[in-house]
Amino acid sequence: MKNMQCHLIKRPVGEPVASDFDFVEQTVREPSDGEVLVKNLFLSLDPAMRGWMMDNKKSYIPPVGLGETMRALGIGKVLKSHDPKYKEGDYVSGLLGVQEYMTGNAKAVGGLTVVQSGLVPMERYLSVLGMPGMTGYFGLLTEAKPQEGETVVISGASGAVGAVVGQIAKIKGCKVVGIAGGEDKCRYLTEELGFDAAIDYKTSDVNEELRKHCPKGLDIYFDNVGGEILDAALANLAMHARIIICGAISQYNNTGDMYAPKNYLAILPARATMRGIVVMDYVKDYAEAGMQMATWMMEGKFKAREDVREGLENFPEVLMNLFTGDNNGKLVLKVAEDD
Ligand SMILES: NC(=O)c1ccc[n+]([C@@H]2O[C@H](COP(=O)([O-])OP(=O)(O)OC[C@H]3O[C@@H](n4cnc5c(N)ncnc54)[C@H](OP(=O)(O)O)[C@@H]3O)[C@@H](O)[C@H]2O)c1
Repeated sequence: MKNMQCHLIKRPVGEPVASDFDFVEQTVREPSDGEVLVKNLFLSLDPAMRGWMMDNKKSYIPPVGLGETMRALGIGKVLKSHDPKYKEGDYVSGLLGVQEYMTGNAKAVGGLTVVQSGLVPMERYLSVLGMPGMTGYFGLLTEAKPQEGETVVISGASGAVGAVVGQIAKIKGCKVVGIAGGEDKCRYLTEELGFDAAIDYKTSDVNEELRKHCPKGLDIYFDNVGGEILDAALANLAMHARIIICGAISQYNNTGDMYAPKNYLAILPARATMRGIVVMDYVKDYAEAGMQMATWMMEGKFKAREDVREGLENFPEVLMNLFTGDNNGKLVLKVAEDD
């Protein structure tokens, strides 16, 4: 059997392009003692991949080496197992890589989690029931600690993480304002997800809109994008506001200096706190969070949306949708049929 792999061959300058990657065909390696062979079905395309491609900044995870298979979370099916924890036919999620097959030791790839088939579409284990869902859940509930009646503002609100944060904040009785790009995404937030208001950052003055929709200020600002939108949020803080720094997608492809928030001193009079989060810190509680979100979904209180594209060979082009905003929901790449 052949295994098509996508290797990172250049560190991107600005936006990643197709020539930063090479597609290489290898023979599928047979699993040795303690290893499994997994057929990849769906891969998760995440903004974090942009950071994993770079080796010039301190991060929470080592960079992908040049010539190595690009790192990716995925869902796959176990074809062969020499690890007693997994059996043939199990579906697993974990760092499977941008390739058709993964042969390896589960521990060495950061762990593989068995997921149940038939309950939800498989790709949901990469969205609400996967890493982005966990990020939104713990970032909001464990770190920002929303209280009933508080105002919660989220940037990147219609994306994989943002939509989770906003919906949980609504369940907790908060007023929720989402910031997203374009009329369709804003309509999705208010009409489908029940947000109280949505701000289209592409056509409006975010600072002015925040003042209008949040007259008492922002109690929680959950930031996925950074840059000028973070600045606008800082200008509108309520007393004791909590700012969660989840990501800064507007800055990931910058070739120059990162945009530094000009309004950072607003944190002082507001006695606000600004906290960075890394989803892996909550791994021991993932199962409980997954159960809770699955329950909310069954009760009709919570929606998931995945944007599924096809073809391993399309990885570089599909990835770019995250940076152009052309994804509607969690961006997933289907790489094989489950047969
Ligand atoms: N800290 C952690 O552990 C952790 C874990 C997961 C994700 N994250 C971070 O969370 C953020 C969201 O990730 P996600 O997976 O949920 O992605 P996503 O929101 O599903 O997709 C990315 C979205 O970002 C928006 N965007 C792109 N360029 C932008 C710009 N210049 N200004 C404003 N918005 C822009 C686009 O939406 P619009 O059309 O609305 O512009 C795009 O659809 C990212 O920053 C990611 O790095 C952090």
